[in-house]
Amino acid sequence: MSLTVIVLAAGGGTRMKSKTVKVLHRIGGRTLLDHVLHAVHEVGPTRVVTVVGTQGEQVAAHVSKTYPDTSLAHQPVSTPGGPSVAYGTAYAVRVAIESLGTLEDGTVLVVTADTPLLQGAALKAFAAEHDAAQRAVSVLSGIVADPFGYGRIVRDADGDVEAIVEEKDATPEQREIAEINSGILAFDAAFLREALPRIGNDNAKGEYYLTDAVQVARDAGLTVGAHVIDDVMQTEGVNDRAQLAALGRELNRRIVDRWMREGVTVMDPATTWIEADVVLSPDVTILPGTQLLGATVVGEDAVIGPDTTLKDCEIGPGARVVRTHGELAVIGPDATVGPFSYLRPGTQLGARGKIGTFVETKNAVIADDAKVPHLSYVGDADIGEGTNIGAGTIFANYDGVKKHRTTVGKGARTGSNNTFVAPVRIGDQAMTGGGTVVRKNVPDGALAVSAATQRNLEGHAERRAAKLEREQVTRETTDPGLGPTDPGAGGS
Ligand code: UD1
Ligand code: CA
Repeated sequence: MSLTVIVLAAGGGTRMKSKTVKVLHRIGGRTLLDHVLHAVHEVGPTRVVTVVGTQGEQVAAHVSKTYPDTSLAHQPVSTPGGPSVAYGTAYAVRVAIESLGTLEDGTVLVVTADTPLLQGAALKAFAAEHDAAQRAVSVLSGIVADPFGYGRIVRDADGDVEAIVEEKDATPEQREIAEINSGILAFDAAFLREALPRIGNDNAKGEYYLTDAVQVARDAGLTVGAHVIDDVMQTEGVNDRAQLAALGRELNRRIVDRWMREGVTVMDPATTWIEADVVLSPDVTILPGTQLLGATVVGEDAVIGPDTTLKDCEIGPGARVVRTHGELAVIGPDATVGPFSYLRPGTQLGARGKIGTFVETKNAVIADDAKVPHLSYVGDADIGEGTNIGAGTIFANYDGVKKHRTTVGKGARTGSNNTFVAPVRIGDQAMTGGGTVVRKNVPDGALAVSAATQRNLEGHAERRAAKLEREQVTRETTDPGLGPTDPGAGGS
């Protein structure tokens, strides 16, 4: 059976007060629209059409990147001072169908784009029930505590849907109804083709309401059903920033909950943020104040946190990452990072390696068992297996014009407070003295020293004290002294 899904995303979302169109705002690392398109794709649709309008080019460009198989329909939108254009959910559906050319027989599912908690399973169950009942129209409804603003479901004596009445058109009695239209509707395609031209805009908002298809079906003697969703938050929409935060928090709660059920220990779910595309393994432990973002992947037995942010990072099994900020870094099995490390893109740490306290790394490939334990900047570097970099080492990768790489071989031991001026190579098993500035390659097994030879001046403290005393005496005998500070007190 053919299933066409129409995603309504033409509204701008004025209450967001944003230069970004509403459906491109993000929670859980995905745009609101992408959450909906993700759920829609789980139903296995024959085709998906997204209707864009306000900032349509921006939305279209986004969708063609994230869901390139989705087709786009452009709905004209009103501009200040310009001609007024037709609006309303029925009009948007008409635009979608026109963009397809012909609408195949089968089922049409209409969903709104601003309901980020929507899940494929709920949508699938709804579509299956609609098909089984062979109805002209089905409404996914919900029971809410505060139905204000929603279309109310008016049922007849048989429990069938008699009408959907919008807030502005509802009588005081109808406003008491707690069952609302989620905005997700299923149609028999042949019926929808017939019904759309019959929907007018004679209502309080002057819009073409898709919900008026209910009346068209009833007039034709067809049945309209409603399926009440248990988990009503799945159909809750975002209209302003407060709702964006509330649904973001709820989405996170659900994601964290799911990972705990998959065997992840989360010490403090309230301060742990895990985005939708993150992948965790069993027996991962997450400590308070941790954010796992983007496409981050964490292996078995790894411990992350406290107070750590990782975006698009890959953390190997058994690794330990403490109080760290990382992006696009790959950390090997049983490696340790932190506390207070800054992993920038292109960082790769091998198995059992270490990036320690106050260390910043960028484009740095640090091999198995190699360690950069303290206070260092490691940029554009290759560090060989088992090498130890001394405390306070700077990989000076920038000559003011270009970036260059530094290579340190295997099993090297470099001293504290070194500067490696790239491009330079330090050989296998090589060593450097404390304070060395390495400007020339260091051969394998060599020791490089560049700090000046130390001289000790014996008796210096005594000579210095004597000199200070002599100077004091001279000052007292030749100094004319300062006059009284109060000019009135001295007299003349
Ligand atoms: C709509 C429903 C209402 C339901 C509510 C759920 C109608 C007439 N009313 O009301 O019964 O309870 O959703 O949230 O359908 N859109 C377009 N093009 C348009 C108009 C709207 O793409 O011309 C999109 C909007 O971007 C939005 C969705 O359709 O994503 C719903 O439109 P909106 O104007 O918010 O409808 P509501 O008044 O909320
Ligand atoms: Ca709305």
